[in-house]
Formats: sequence, structure tokens, C-alpha cells
Amino acid sequence: MNMNHLVLKLSLVFFIHFSTTAQQSIDIKVAELLSKMTLEEKIGQMNQYNGFWNFTGPSPEEGDAKVKYEHLRKGLVGSMLNVRGVRDVRSVQKIAVEESRLGIPLIFGFDLIHGYKTVFPIPLAEAASWDVKAIELSAKLAAKEAAAAGINWTFAPMVDITRDARWGRVMEGAGEDPYLGSLVAAARVRGFQGEKLNAPFTIAATAKHFAAYGFAEAGRDYNTVDIGLNTLHNMVLPPFKAAADAGIKTFMNSFNDLNGIPATADAYLQRDILKGDWGFEGFVVSDWGSIREMMDHGYARDRKHAGELAVLGGSDMDMESSIYINELETLLEEKKINLAHIDDAVSRILKVKYELGLFDDPYLYCNEEVEKQITGAQEIVEASLEVAKKSIVLLKNENNILPLRKKGQKIGLIGPLAADKNSPLGNWRIAAENNTAISVLEGMQNYKDNRLSHAQGVRLVEKVPAGFHEEVAINTTDKTGFEAAIALAKKVDVVVMVLGEYGFQSGEGRSRTQLGLPGLQQELLEKVTMANPNVVLVVMNGRPLILNWAAENVPAIVEAWHLGTQSGNAIAQVLYGDYNPSGKLPMSFPRSVGQLPLYYNHKSTGRPGAEGEDPGSVFWSHYGDEKNSALFPFGFGLSYTEFEYTNFQLSTATLDRSGSITAFVDVKNTGAVKGKEVVQLYLQDPYASTTRPVKELKGFQMVELAPGESKKVSFIITEADLKFYNAKQQWDAESGIFHVYIGGNSLVKNKRSFELN
Ligand code: BGC
Repeated sequence: MNMNHLVLKLSLVFFIHFSTTAQQSIDIKVAELLSKMTLEEKIGQMNQYNGFWNFTGPSPEEGDAKVKYEHLRKGLVGSMLNVRGVRDVRSVQKIAVEESRLGIPLIFGFDLIHGYKTVFPIPLAEAASWDVKAIELSAKLAAKEAAAAGINWTFAPMVDITRDARWGRVMEGAGEDPYLGSLVAAARVRGFQGEKLNAPFTIAATAKHFAAYGFAEAGRDYNTVDIGLNTLHNMVLPPFKAAADAGIKTFMNSFNDLNGIPATADAYLQRDILKGDWGFEGFVVSDWGSIREMMDHGYARDRKHAGELAVLGGSDMDMESSIYINELETLLEEKKINLAHIDDAVSRILKVKYELGLFDDPYLYCNEEVEKQITGAQEIVEASLEVAKKSIVLLKNENNILPLRKKGQKIGLIGPLAADKNSPLGNWRIAAENNTAISVLEGMQNYKDNRLSHAQGVRLVEKVPAGFHEEVAINTTDKTGFEAAIALAKKVDVVVMVLGEYGFQSGEGRSRTQLGLPGLQQELLEKVTMANPNVVLVVMNGRPLILNWAAENVPAIVEAWHLGTQSGNAIAQVLYGDYNPSGKLPMSFPRSVGQLPLYYNHKSTGRPGAEGEDPGSVFWSHYGDEKNSALFPFGFGLSYTEFEYTNFQLSTATLDRSGSITAFVDVKNTGAVKGKEVVQLYLQDPYASTTRPVKELKGFQMVELAPGESKKVSFIITEADLKFYNAKQQWDAESGIFHVYIGGNSLVKNKRSFELN
């Protein structure tokens, strides 16, 4: 760099950093900076690259990496993803800030799906806690650990509603319900972003995948989505709206096409709804290569056309397609897009960078000492244990086989996941070290007085996948461990079997058509149960599995998901009764793949059949070979104690539009130990201008009760709770009768009614 260049650059950097006074708003700073930028530099801000070479080594000479490096130096990159760790972040940021003409800082993005180095439970598991404070804390601490490693932006939360367990990405979301999903979405936004984005260790969050990605046909990842406006507005959009209302800074669009238009180019979604109706002022990033993929969708003619469609559709930043950087200038010359599109996108991106404080300090939180102190800090590990315990759902517990006794009882721990230190980390744990989870074996070994023996029984995978990119090969032939496991089962009082999915069996690209216990595990379970019927099944998984046989033949089932770093400790504390489980399922567990998609908030149909009765003919909405109902429904979960619901009342029988109704119920702990219950409120609009779900969750409260203790729980219902996207395509509440249900899961039958004037 020659001297003149250096002086010019320094003075520009000086200008950018110091010419604005504290009083001037970010919008003015953005406008000023924008006016200094060349077209090439503007387009550069809309370009995001993946980091894949060692920035601290010699600069790359060839290929893709060389281009990226050159682009960084020329200010043609707005953001990097997957560059992490203070050393790497600083060295890349240094190129942008010190070598590019304007020195505009990069924003560093990363997928914090459930933690950074310290892994929290998968989001589906955390949703099972129904504890939004715990979920907020999980996001906050993930942000802290990642921010200390130089990250300023996360591609989370995933707020897709998921109804089909075949789809591997159900693990990343909060399940099938838009109300629970909205509360979880807002909690995660608050957790990641904090009160103010420039507060220490806060990062920008992303609501993804906009929209309807969770409705991929037949649960096959990346597949077509064809749903009506009714489902889109009432089911899919609410959690996105909640994230926008919580002040989220960015959105990511999705790989799927929605009703014929790839989401990446969907102006109805991104321009009309998001940036229009919702007044969203942040920016939209594409999903990985999703701009280019519009050619494969059969929607874009070529790369240039894809760029045009994406810009017009409202995508502000191009993740890894390299289309914006190569095509937008030409598109502008050809008047296919105009400068206002580009200025708007760039302003949105710069605004978030200003809000984060990157212009004040491009090396935000980059301090090796602090990074060391915060990585794996006790407060983070403890929070991950707390939320892991809260995420566990007790699905069955006959004859109080659980909790286990801490002394005296001979326990056999069996199963391929019992000693596994990797699977509990689940998918999407890119910053974590492999094999760093506490296994169930280790967790149980902390109980020193127990009489614990262990046998693997069977291997789950043939070959341990190296990570994110490999398909998992399941063992379907080698049964050599069966004999020892069966022999162990015969010798003990209780068997704990830890079965389920390998850590990378769910997640992106991990769709499955069979949802039983994978590989030889079902056979092992049956043989062990034959040898000793006192079996406690602990299931580890990233999605609802089909557990019919276990539900009939095994006395206890504990849903333990992939719980992260502290998995084994959390599970052991539940098994031994040091923690009384209170989790409730955020997704219905099917009886058969043939039932999918399966969700509690379905419509009635014209032929619903009489509940529990044989309607006397075949002509009703049902299967000839399976029940309609879930094996374990949404909202379901047991405790080591029991709860009784009595005195259910409404404060009045009519609701004025400006008023409210209070629904009360007494909840009593009728068992012998202290416990927590998630009390759930469901509403039903039995007749409306469009058909409505048979039940919709509209409130819940967690109560903790000592044995014999009773509490009055109340919910306030207002017009806002009754609104839906109706036949006039308006968000409104329609006059008429409404039913109210309060209970411990979505099957609750006891109802009261009121009328909306
Ligand atoms: C996923 C996104 C993710 C992105 C960046 C894509 O494959 O769909 O959810 O944020 O990669 O890692």
C-alpha cells in the first residue's frame, strides 16, 4: 500500500468513526456512510462468505479462497460465517478494517442452535421445559460464550413450526404449536440480543427459515411446500411475528418453495409481510446458496436471473452463492433492479452493524483472556444442566419403578447410548469438542452407593461419522453384544436401557421414513425385557420416535432427547429422583409414520367420528389399521407425583370486546412428593368464517406444589386470544361461542364456554 493510499484510508476511517456526534442517529450515520460508498462497495456489503481457510497462515494463492481474500481487501464482503475464535476473527476483521478503502467492519455469523462450546439441550428438548426464562438464559449464555469467541450474529432461533417427525430439522425448533413457538422465539431473541444490542456479550439474532420450511412435503428436507394462506398465517407466521415484535435484527429465508415461489424470491413474504406489514427494519440473509438454488427449483433461468429475483423478492444478503457480488452491477445497468433496492439492503445491513457497536470497535469482545475465562465457565455449564433437567419428559412410570433407589438396588445399564459421550451433543454443535458430553454411565456413577453394571448390548452405528457432513451408517447385523446384555439383565433388579438416535441422525438433511428405534435396538429391547421385565427405557433422540412396543411392554419411559454437555448428570438426577421431571411434549409422538403429519391442533373435518365410539360405518375420517390419536400427545408429560384439577370456572359467560374473562382452576398435588405442573389453557372456536382447529393452546403456567398443596391458577382471556386470519384475510375475532379447556395436556376434555359479543 503506498503512502497516499494509506493517508486517504486513514482519513476516511477517521471520518467514518469520528465525524458523527453521539447525538446523531444511526440512520444519519448510515446515510452518510452510504453516500461515500462506490456501487461495488455497496454490493460488497450484501455479500457473505463462508470462512474455510486458516486466516492466520499465509494468504491463499489459488481458487475460491484467493478470490475471497481479495474481496475482503477490496471491501467486497459484508459478512463472514463460520469464522470463530478470537484469533481468527481478529485476523479476518483486520483485513476488512485495515486494508479495505472504507474499513467497514464485517459482521461474523454463526449457528448457535443450542450453545457454543458448552452444548445446551437441542431446542426441541428445551421447548419441552415450557420454561421460557430457562430458554432465554440458555440463549443468553450461548451468546456470551460465542461473543467471547468473536461472534456477533447468530443464525438462530429457528422458529419453524414442525408437524412431521420425518423431517430431521424438527430438533432445531420448538415443535408443533404456534403459541408455545412464539413465546420460545421471543425468549430466544431476548436472550441473544439482550436489552440493547451494544451491551456486552449480546449478539444479533436471526429468525429462520422464512417461511414454512417445516412443512416440507412428506418430511423430506428441502422439499416443496404447498399450503394455503390460512395455514400460513395462523400456524406458520406467528412465531416469526413474535420474533419481529421482540426486535430481532435479521431474518433468514428458506430453501423451500412456497406455493410455487422459492422463499428466497418471495416478495409477498419478505417485502409485503415482513418489511411492509410488520415494519421490520433489519435485514434478510438468504440461506446457504439458496439464491443459486433457484435455478434448480426451475424458477431462475441463470445466475443473473436468480440475483434479480432475490433482490426483487427482498433478500438483502447473499450467503455463499456469490451471485450478488458478480451479477448485481449488470442487473443495475440493465435496469432489472434499481439503486434504491441496493441502498435499502445496504442501509439495513449497516444499521445492524452500527447497532452492534462494530463501528466503535470492530474487534468487539476480541480478547483472548476473556475468551478463555468465559469458554466453559461454571455459570454456563450449570445453566445447561438446569435446563437439561427441565427438558426431560417422563412418558410412563408404572408401579413407581422410578425413581431408582440410590442404595441396595442392583441396576444394569444397557444400550448403545448408555456410555456414549458424543450423541447427547446432538446435531448442530459445530463449536463443541466431540465426546465431551457426560454420558448416562458417568452420570449414574456419581451415585457412589449404587450397584451399577454396564453392557453396551449393541453398537448403533457401523462407522462413527466425522461430523456434520457424513451420512450415518447404522449397524443392522452385528449382535455380538446381545448375550452379555441379556445375562446382565437376568442378574439385576432393574434394567436402565438407553436407546434412540445417534447424535447426527436428526438435523439438516436427516429425514427418515422409519421412526422406530434404529438398527438392532428394538430387538435388543425386546430380548432384554424378556430376560427382566423391570426395564426403564431412556430415549435419546432429536425427533419424536415411534415407541408403541415400549409403551405397552416396558414399565417406564423417559424422554431424554439430546441434552448436551450435561446430559448424563441431568438424566441420572431424574432417574434417582433428585429432580422430579416436569417436561411436557412440544410435539405429538405418533403411533405410525402413516399418521404423519400429526398435530393436536388439527381441524375437525366433516366426518370426525364420535370420540371413543365406533361410528358404525367406515365412512369417517380415520385409518382402518391405526388410531387417529398420538401415542403421546402434545403437552403430555408425567411427574413423580400426581395433580388433580377441580373447580374449573369462568368469571362470566360473555366477553365484551374491550373486556376480559378469567378462567380459574384449582390444581392440587395429590401425590407424595413435591412437583411442578405445566397447567395448560386451550381455546376452541367451534364455528367461524373458516374452519378452526379443534383446540389451540393459548396460555400456560408452571406451578410448583408440595404434597397435599393446592393452588388456584387463573388465566385472563381477551379478544386478542381469539383472533385468527379469517375468510376476509383479516386478523380478527369473530362473535360467537368459544370453548375453554384447562388441563395437563392437549387431550383435556373438561370444558366451559362463553360468548364473544
Ligand atoms: C441452514 C441454515 C444455516 C446455514 C448456515 C444452512 O444449511 O439451512 O439453517 O443457518 O446453513 O450454516
